[in-house]
Amino acid sequence: MPKSLDWIDAELQDLKQAGLYNRIRTLESPQGAWLVVDGKKVLNFCSNNYLGLANHPRVVKAAKQAADKYGVGPGAVRTIAGTMDLHLELEKRLAEFKRVEKAITFQSGFSANLGTIPALVGKEDVIFSDRLNHASIIDGCRLAKSKIIAYDHCSPESLKAALEEHRGNYRRALVVTDGVFSMDGDVAPLDEIYKVTRGHDVILMVDDAHGEGVLGEGGRGIVDHFQLHGKVDVEVGTLSKAFGVVGGVVAGNPLVVEWLYQRGRPFLFSSAMTLPDVAACIAAVDILEDSTELVDRLWENAGYFKAEMKNLGFDTGHSTTPITPIMLGEAPLAQDFSKKLFEEGVFATSIGFPTVPRGLARIRVMISAAHSRADLDQALEIFKKVGKELGVI
Ligand SMILES: Cc1ncc(COP(=O)(O)O)c(C=O)c1O
Repeated sequence: MPKSLDWIDAELQDLKQAGLYNRIRTLESPQGAWLVVDGKKVLNFCSNNYLGLANHPRVVKAAKQAADKYGVGPGAVRTIAGTMDLHLELEKRLAEFKRVEKAITFQSGFSANLGTIPALVGKEDVIFSDRLNHASIIDGCRLAKSKIIAYDHCSPESLKAALEEHRGNYRRALVVTDGVFSMDGDVAPLDEIYKVTRGHDVILMVDDAHGEGVLGEGGRGIVDHFQLHGKVDVEVGTLSKAFGVVGGVVAGNPLVVEWLYQRGRPFLFSSAMTLPDVAACIAAVDILEDSTELVDRLWENAGYFKAEMKNLGFDTGHSTTPITPIMLGEAPLAQDFSKKLFEEGVFATSIGFPTVPRGLARIRVMISAAHSRADLDQALEIFKKVGKELGVI
């Protein structure tokens, strides 16, 4: 190995010693309440497949039919020869579903953030960003080269003070927040955030990755949840979580969407979503529009699991969504907890620094509509056993 890369080995050893090395397990089955992981059948409590759509027969069928009709690859970036009628249909359907005028798709939620933020603000501008925003927002802000001002987590007061102090010094301003914070499951007070931004001439953007298919009427997202239609300029989202597929979306003001068609760099310089994925996403929208059954079941499952975990004595943080953190503190304990859960038949990964701050390591439990009551009860028994064994409860 060349000497210039020796540092990587040292860093990897450090990560292992600190209990922060990612040991990646391999799935050998479709997503669902149960998985085969590293050859073992286990209950799944850590994927973002909120509604169980990742292996839903209607969604799978749509992908197969699209592959038969269009093949698999888009062949080009959207602006050259990669825009097919299905892409436009999905964008129209997503806009209707989210009750906005227009939507544009990207290859992922991550690339939607990377493409959107630098298209809206630049060197002469300022971004007000929640301190705990997702990595893809942070990277999008860095790419924009704007002045970044982090305001206190979910604090409209802190945002207000920052706007009053700094807004006047810059050309344009963007206020950006996660909708649902993916590690804690708390919801940004978007109604209050909207209020404090009024009169400051700012672009308001929310990343609804964990809110789509979860919050709002039938899973229409955080803007619908707070009834802020027409007031939030940019709603970024992902098609990889509740929608069960893969892809990103930016919905909202038609001018923003039009601009991203011209200046969203991943839209211009990276190939389009694949056609089976696009068709699968359209089927997912169909399912969500047909009935609220899956979204209702998700919330029912989440309410039950959280209440039972609290009864057992676990600290489940301050989540108000189906994301359920089991707070454990130090990363090695969280890793040990996850390992023991797996031995007992529950797959729930530990999360440590840098994904969450040091000392706040946890198991992040993701509840799904795919879980039956029996699945939840079985998992609760296992959490209880491991919690007692490790002295957590
Ligand atoms: C808040 C937030 N934004 C964006 C993303 C990225 O979405 P995707 O997986 O579609 O790239 C995630 C996923 O982890 C997320 O939690």
